[in-house]
Amino acid sequence: MSDFGLATSHVGLGLRREMLSSVLDQPQPGIDFFEVAPENWLPYGGTYQKKFRQLTERYAFICHGLSLSLGSPDPLDLDFVRQIKTFLKEHQIKLYSEHLSYCSAAGHLYDLLPIPFTEEAAVYVADRIRMVQDILEQPLVVENVSYYAAPGQELTELEFTNAVLELADCKLLLDVNNIYVNSVNHSYDALAFLKGLPTKRIAYGHVAGHYRQHDSLLIDTHGADVSDPVWVLLSEAYQHHGLFPTLLERDFNIPDMQQLQLELEHIRRLQPTDSMKLRA
Ligand SMILES: [Fe+2]
Repeated sequence: MSDFGLATSHVGLGLRREMLSSVLDQPQPGIDFFEVAPENWLPYGGTYQKKFRQLTERYAFICHGLSLSLGSPDPLDLDFVRQIKTFLKEHQIKLYSEHLSYCSAAGHLYDLLPIPFTEEAAVYVADRIRMVQDILEQPLVVENVSYYAAPGQELTELEFTNAVLELADCKLLLDVNNIYVNSVNHSYDALAFLKGLPTKRIAYGHVAGHYRQHDSLLIDTHGADVSDPVWVLLSEAYQHHGLFPTLLERDFNIPDMQQLQLELEHIRRLQPTDSMKLRA
């Protein structure tokens, strides 16, 4: 993992702009790294950029994009990728991740929509990931997403995900909550899915809370504490794949930092301490 500069960074937190002051004002000993959506910071100068710079000088950061729209029928916004490259360089951020989904088609759709699980779509998306990687001159990290419908499905989600990773030769952001949510909503074995992912491609992980609408319908909200079955699955992920840096996502109903720290401690407790479990 040393190529990503996260060799000693095991537990992270998604940073929203409203958290900025509290994180700057107090040391955060339980947090090894933060993740930000570059779209939320790129347009701002002045005080925000200054404060952001203070943080990036103090902590390791990852950029987790929202708008690249890897699966879109629209052309990729290559100027935007170049802006990201400059932003990463300015703040010495080593990792850039995006969703294996799309959010635009002749205009923004303001949601992360599922790419059809087909061979053709896997090749299409992988080509676009390679274009991004060629500009960035580094691997892109793509995240397995939650989805509520699978239009035109020919492959399983696992077959599709692995095909994209292989064809694009990119890295994986393993979102454990998304696996759990999808396994309930689409009736598959979460553990088998987890074990079917390629260990060597995992750059880091996400864990988050969801909303239980019904026994057979979970909504990936990032608005609640992490649920027990997701903690179990995260523990299984470490057992099977070894230690990988893991980030807590919380976008709504955000509790105070003390409460968030408890969940971060929970992540750390599950992480293997045996150095033999560290991924090469
Ligand atoms: Fe995620």
